Amino acid sequence: MTAASRGAQTRWPADGLAYGGDYNPEQWPREVWDEDVRLMRVAGVNLVTLGVFAWGTVEVADDVRDWSWLDDAIELLHAHGIAVDLATPTAAPPSWLLAAHPDIAPVLVDGYREPAGGRNAWCPESSVYRRYALRHVDALARRYGDHPAVRLWHVGNELGGGNARCYCDGSAAGFRRWLRDRHGSLDAVNAAWGTAQWGHRYGTWDEIMPPRGRHGAPNPGLFLDYERYSSDALLAHYLAEKEVLERHSSAPVTTNLMVGAGAQVVDYASWAPHTAVVSNDHYTLVGDLPAGDREHDLAFAADRMRGMSPGRPWLLMESSTGGPSWQRRNRAKDPGEIVRHSLGHVARGSDGAMFFQWRASRAGAEQFHSAMLPHSGTRSRVWQEVVELGGHLRSLAEVAGTVVEPARAAMVVDDPAGWALQHGLMPHRELSYGRELRAWHRALWDRQVVCDVVPPGVPLDGYDLVVVPTLLVVDDDAAARLASVPARGGTLLVTYLSGVCDDDGQVRTGGFPGAFADVLGAWSDELYPLQAGQVVRLDDGGEATEWTERVHLDGAEAVVRYSSSSLAGGPAVTRREIGDGAAWYVSAALGADGVGRVVDRLVADTGVPRVLDAAPGLEAVRRRGDDRSYLFLLNHTGDEQKVAAAGHDLLTGAEVGPLTTVPAGGVRVLREPRRPASD
Ligand code: GAL
Repeated sequence: MTAASRGAQTRWPADGLAYGGDYNPEQWPREVWDEDVRLMRVAGVNLVTLGVFAWGTVEVADDVRDWSWLDDAIELLHAHGIAVDLATPTAAPPSWLLAAHPDIAPVLVDGYREPAGGRNAWCPESSVYRRYALRHVDALARRYGDHPAVRLWHVGNELGGGNARCYCDGSAAGFRRWLRDRHGSLDAVNAAWGTAQWGHRYGTWDEIMPPRGRHGAPNPGLFLDYERYSSDALLAHYLAEKEVLERHSSAPVTTNLMVGAGAQVVDYASWAPHTAVVSNDHYTLVGDLPAGDREHDLAFAADRMRGMSPGRPWLLMESSTGGPSWQRRNRAKDPGEIVRHSLGHVARGSDGAMFFQWRASRAGAEQFHSAMLPHSGTRSRVWQEVVELGGHLRSLAEVAGTVVEPARAAMVVDDPAGWALQHGLMPHRELSYGRELRAWHRALWDRQVVCDVVPPGVPLDGYDLVVVPTLLVVDDDAAARLASVPARGGTLLVTYLSGVCDDDGQVRTGGFPGAFADVLGAWSDELYPLQAGQVVRLDDGGEATEWTERVHLDGAEAVVRYSSSSLAGGPAVTRREIGDGAAWYVSAALGADGVGRVVDRLVADTGVPRVLDAAPGLEAVRRRGDDRSYLFLLNHTGDEQKVAAAGHDLLTGAEVGPLTTVPAGGVRVLREPRRPASD
């Protein structure tokens, strides 16, 4: 194992790749626990997340704690060699606390206080909640901080899931404090938000309110700052718990992020640096989507995790073995998907695969959620696959600590930019930031090009290709860093609406796309959002839907032109050569084929490597250690695929190549004979 590549400071919480899930023994009689640990060993589980929702079952009344079951559970796991990711159980306050202090619950946008009974039913500005939460975290950390089984701390659960925004008076006060820090003065706030419009100028701080109510059109600057403040308020709570844990324990601290197909509730890139192990929960897309779509979202999320955890492995903290319980129709996984999906995360840098949850619950809100050990027990297909996956992860132990081969393509993603795009009186309210991002990432994924998904502030020097989809809000520094990519020989691709607004959400004047018009050598004087079903033809045979613009060339050449509508003859896609570099502007929503054509050209021009040449749906990623490389091949199609690859298949023990067959829905992980010549 190459500990160096894992990040010098963090001891990995499991030996080898982590395998396990949320374990809730408090839901079961003790005799079941013995069976649990026995079966965990059969499956190869080496790490469980314990106590996530166990505040009320430990602190049974105000300052009265019954540690007995938790003591026993930790000892039992330890005796069986299973490490513990011990959670602070603060996501779900106990009933006695909610009854005594109902005002710790968040207030919804329409002014109603969230009734008790859900999860994360607390406002991060509640000093009462904070006091009780930290008191319990302190007691927990004192008790178990030195326990050898405790290899990781897990703060709360999916912070922001349920309490991403609170609109109470305490939050209003917190927001005003946050605004003072960000803007310095009330005049600066008025200027940043353009409050001269509609005469909304603020004369005193107390006049500033959270954007409450559903029917108005809140000022976009106010809205965006409230989103940012809300993320920071939750982060402050996370940091407060982390500080208490670190006072009593040297085990690393994490919290499970929620980067996936759903709404991004906090600004994850600003959280990740505060976690010793960047960890994520990923559930495949809602609905019965064809194979490929589900896995692409998985790859996108995993690439985002890697972008937030540069140069070190991250951890898939939760996923499911089958249907979750929170979707309208909870799709089971097809045979092979548990293994393929889990190894898909490992391929992209996760040093493990964890699930919600170990044993399926009989009662409670999540009684029909899938689990590693399903209701039907060890006779089930799911259990067989869980055991199979455990075997695979053991066979892959030597992969632990290696990192994904540095990508030469990057995509820039920013949660606040996404919030700004999808709120208020925007030119096209049905654009989805997530869809825009995935369209471009998907085209790279289909071509086996590995792409880091990174926040706007990171250094971009190692990347030959930087793709910037619909980054509506961008500050001047980040915009300048992006604009400098072509000058050093890289290729920058910017799509519509990017750079149009500054960091306060104010429109940059002088032509779209504001911050990038100069480097692109192209600008538009008018935006033409399309109506539902409206199609504009393009001269390469493609079509634009949803979005078009009237573009003018100012140094760039037109690669594709509009050929219908009032824009006919005008540039749709442009390219400007700058030394060895290039700057592309895509002013229209091109659809999958059009995006694919542009990406083909980008791949050819920039030389960003395809891991190998295969059909779409054959995913290929390489991880590297000090002296070894591992090629992951995942076949998401229904047909066997043959690819030019060779090595020792760690999953079967067979030597394969020079042509390797990857069965339909199957996975191969090859220890390659030697480093490819590109080194
Ligand atoms: C996650 C959550 C888990 C469990 C799971 C069910 O979002 O962290 O505690 O509820 O969903 O899919």
